[in-house]
Amino acid sequence: MKRIFTLLLALCLSPALWAAEGMWLPLMLKALQDDMQAHGMKLTAEEIYSVNQSSLKDAIVSFGGFCTGELISDQGLILTNHHCGYGAIQSHSSVQDDLLTNGFWARTKEEEKPNPSLFVTFIVRMEDVTEQVLQGLDPKLSETEREKQVSERIRQISQQATQGTHYKALIKPFFYGNEYYMFVTETYDDVRLVGTPPSSIGKFGGDTDNWMWPRHTGDFSLFRVYAGPDGKPAKYSPNNKPLKPKHHLPVSLEGVQEGDFTMVFGFPGRTQQYLTSHAVKILMEQTNPHRIDIRDKRLEILDRHMKANDTVRIQYASKYASVANYWKKWIGENRGLKQLNTLEEKRAQEQAFQQWAAQDPQRNEQYGKLLARFAELYQQQERVDLANNYHREALLGVELIKLAGTFNALASGSLPAAELSAGNNRFTTALERHFKDYNAAADKDVFVHMLLLYKQQVPQQFQPEPIRKLPTTEAGIRTYADKLYSQSVLASRQKMQEQLSTYDPKKTAARLRKDPGFVLYGAIQEVFEKQIAPVYAATDPELELLYRRYVAGLRQMQQDKLFYPDANSTLRVAYGKVGGYTPQDGVQYLPYTTLEGIMEKEDPSNEEFIVPERLKEIYRTKDYGPYATEDYMPVCFVASNHTTGGNSGSPVIDAKGRLIGLNFDRSWESTMSDVKYSPEICRNIAVDIRYVLLIIDKFAGATHLVEEMTLVDANTTVEIGGEVMGVH
Ligand code: ARG
Ligand code: ASP
Repeated sequence: MKRIFTLLLALCLSPALWAAEGMWLPLMLKALQDDMQAHGMKLTAEEIYSVNQSSLKDAIVSFGGFCTGELISDQGLILTNHHCGYGAIQSHSSVQDDLLTNGFWARTKEEEKPNPSLFVTFIVRMEDVTEQVLQGLDPKLSETEREKQVSERIRQISQQATQGTHYKALIKPFFYGNEYYMFVTETYDDVRLVGTPPSSIGKFGGDTDNWMWPRHTGDFSLFRVYAGPDGKPAKYSPNNKPLKPKHHLPVSLEGVQEGDFTMVFGFPGRTQQYLTSHAVKILMEQTNPHRIDIRDKRLEILDRHMKANDTVRIQYASKYASVANYWKKWIGENRGLKQLNTLEEKRAQEQAFQQWAAQDPQRNEQYGKLLARFAELYQQQERVDLANNYHREALLGVELIKLAGTFNALASGSLPAAELSAGNNRFTTALERHFKDYNAAADKDVFVHMLLLYKQQVPQQFQPEPIRKLPTTEAGIRTYADKLYSQSVLASRQKMQEQLSTYDPKKTAARLRKDPGFVLYGAIQEVFEKQIAPVYAATDPELELLYRRYVAGLRQMQQDKLFYPDANSTLRVAYGKVGGYTPQDGVQYLPYTTLEGIMEKEDPSNEEFIVPERLKEIYRTKDYGPYATEDYMPVCFVASNHTTGGNSGSPVIDAKGRLIGLNFDRSWESTMSDVKYSPEICRNIAVDIRYVLLIIDKFAGATHLVEEMTLVDANTTVEIGGEVMGVH
């Protein structure tokens, strides 16, 4: 009786739980339409993604390849996160004109600021090309040979698909190469900065609030994409015209309620949902603890130097933030994986798989030995995991060592002189960028502590010769560091510039090969290439093959279940609903935050929590225009959409296809979702679009930008592809 009840309960619950998990390819939405509509969606799959007419997907772009953006006007206006536009905003900032601190709002199109290295990419169409890629391929091929043939086919299919056009085609493997999809893309290179709030809004809460709920960050910035006079992509030119997109998202003033259907469209970067228990064990017990420890130390030292010196504080702000971002993510990830009993659950699933395989001789032949082989290969990787992580995080975490890597071609003499003769080349640019934000004293201190930790943790056999010879004491390593940093050209901008201006392949290489910095780098690389990399080279291709079979087997075993492929920076749709959550026993979080909360967090003595005067004035006078509810001025909200890195800047869209928020983060308790998602706990964090509008309109007075948008409320209908959206 009890068992039947449990089963019934599982059946009742599973559709609702299942609904929130997954990052779906737009092509898969036809199969999900009923489920999405059952959860409140009013659109058809065709309105979300269509090959024949304009659809929601035409308003979504990959922003610079690392974030997502969306079109919100018929004049190419793009909304993305402040932390996605950060590089561009920083590049236009100087001490005299500091856009990061003050914000920036172009009053006219002429004032918008071009960004030569920025681009946005639209998906023109996508296609399942599995057949063409795999048809007739000999299943007995070695992985290397298979890879070769697959690449050649991909090249041909891409070429055919884009012949005579300015499009590019991207074909990627899904489900570890069980399926292949092609994305035909169109990239625009003229992307200009239109507006950004000051960091006190765009980065409010800083690293303290990063990955946290409740959140109060106005994490947005505005750009505009320009096209040539013919509407086609063109390099920057003052004669370019704002792009008229096929679709732009209408912006909703209606707001969000607990339980509302939401959808996130974007370019999630990487997830690993199908990892076996062996891999999860390494991640939880080796990789994450090691890299957390290493970054703990690095952050502690950077923090000390930043607090002691204002110049260093500014130079290292962005570096610190990026080191801290994943440090904090991994801590949360490990906690979440433990809390969900992921390891045990994976093991149980593997046992079920093994039993299922054993039930049938053919299946047994195909799948019976898979898991044992996984175990063997991961055992091999586990032996070098520590050394690998200390190589990547501790040694390459030292800026001097990293710079040696960037410039190693000069020390090896492999670089033709002609590459350096043109005044402005990638090496001068890299050098400029490195030394602009470099403090040798801070880096040397990082070096000392990274090496000390390295010597304490890494077995002797992996230690490069110059490091093995050092004493395992801070004083001993410091003596070595003092010498290294005073003698190596790598610690000095001027000496490095000299190397570039007098470059001669033979002579420079002869000189640099004796430089202690390059000597050290060479020794480090040698260990990596001889002892660490070969282990992965010998196991990764076979693991890929095993996963291909394992995932195929899982799908055969659970034929009623819809599987979604791991994120791989291709266009995806996640759907879920607005809702709070219980982070721990006895605590219940609301799904939204308000302007009250910003005032509660205000701390003029802490840079992360300064509230700009103008925002306080708006708060005092309640000058919220149409953007507040009767009771409060919304700021952020959470929902159960399955997202990951790369989804930053993604639109959060309501049941009718209207923009209600801008995705920018996940809660700390959610960060294990890259390996294991839980609908009860995992929440993506979005800034409420009404707060974005308040800042643009009331805070910045950039009302002309709001007027460009298509604002809608409960009574407005919106057209998409020539039809009224969401009415059937
Ligand atoms: N955690 C978010 C993401 O992974 C935001 C990072 C930027 N913000 C920050 N305070 N570092 O990208
Ligand atoms: N903050 C992430 C990003 O920049 C999003 C996430 O990891 O949830 O893409």
